[in-house]
Amino acid sequence: MPDIPNDLAAIDTPAVLVDLDIAQRNIERFQSYAAEHGLRVRPHIKTHKLPLLAEMQQAAGAIGITCQKVSEAEAMVHGSAAITDVLITYNIVGAEKLARLKALALRVRLSVVADSRAVVDGLSATFRDAAEPLAVLVECDTGAHRCGVADPRAADALAASIDAAPGLVFGGLMTYPPAGSEAAVQRFMSEAKALIEARDIAVPVITSGGTPSMMQAADAPVVSEYRPGTYVYNDRSLVSRGVCGWDDCALTVLATVVSVPAENRAIIDAGSKALTSDLLGLEGYGHVLGRDDIAIDQLSEEHGRLVSSGSIGLAVGDKVRIVPNHACVVTNLVDTLLLVGAGHKTPVPTRVVARGRTT
Ligand SMILES: Cc1ncc(COP(=O)(O)O)c(C=O)c1O
Repeated sequence: MPDIPNDLAAIDTPAVLVDLDIAQRNIERFQSYAAEHGLRVRPHIKTHKLPLLAEMQQAAGAIGITCQKVSEAEAMVHGSAAITDVLITYNIVGAEKLARLKALALRVRLSVVADSRAVVDGLSATFRDAAEPLAVLVECDTGAHRCGVADPRAADALAASIDAAPGLVFGGLMTYPPAGSEAAVQRFMSEAKALIEARDIAVPVITSGGTPSMMQAADAPVVSEYRPGTYVYNDRSLVSRGVCGWDDCALTVLATVVSVPAENRAIIDAGSKALTSDLLGLEGYGHVLGRDDIAIDQLSEEHGRLVSSGSIGLAVGDKVRIVPNHACVVTNLVDTLLLVGAGHKTPVPTRVVARGRTT
């Protein structure tokens, strides 16, 4: 039987739990690696979406936060006076978002990215009359083939455009590489930096990110700043990559068995609305802690199917704790999660303030 602590047995389910002691340990592990290698840390808040967790990351040494959307940044800044330095790693397009970006820049030290002249022109038109110029980094594609300029020459050309644009200041280079791309990052960024510096433009920041190869971040020494996100909670996808163990997973979904229709099968009250249908290339929808014999092989919205290779050994009313495949998408599904650990005698309900922020 999975080990469910007494104080969790009474919780209504499905519920998302975050163990603050494990999160703190995860934060400190990367922060000490970064300190050892002279890297600044700017965690991506997409994983937790909680000002409290950002404060824990900053207390451990992070220099600020990364957000993906203006609305996420607004929620985080509103939620904590300690958040004063924000990088938004997204092309901000459209009058409404640009106006909000300008308002946010009055409240915190703000930087954004761009990978085209069109994005730079929109930022410049918005900030040309601002009291302070906006720092804009060039997003570079070092292998993920999502956003980003394709080669160092294009990065150099866009850096020059930013440098010349009214209301903007060139902030450096940004990339979000696939895991294990340190050599490609080093090559791209060194070449781009040399080209830009040859114009007498400084490159103040070179920022990379991603949890799967964060402990190899120093293999690209040109990088000055790192943006891990999922490292704070970890999840089944990171365990499957060998990046961490089950004991390092701070976020779990607590679920109740609602049916045991067969000897080897049970149904829980957590379906795709709690675990998400995100497979991340894995088989099954999560890991039942303490039960390596069980697969979560099928989800509908409110039902999760557990199938054991032997006897399921569960009864209606039993609770199980599940490590989801992908922690970040789970936090986006719940208004409130429960904080445990950190000396709390009972779980503390906490609103996920930056959830559902898509604009
Ligand atoms: C731009 C950017 N930076 C950093 C991260 C953090 O990546 P991870 O969650 O693997 O640490 C992400 C994740 O989506 C991202 O999109």
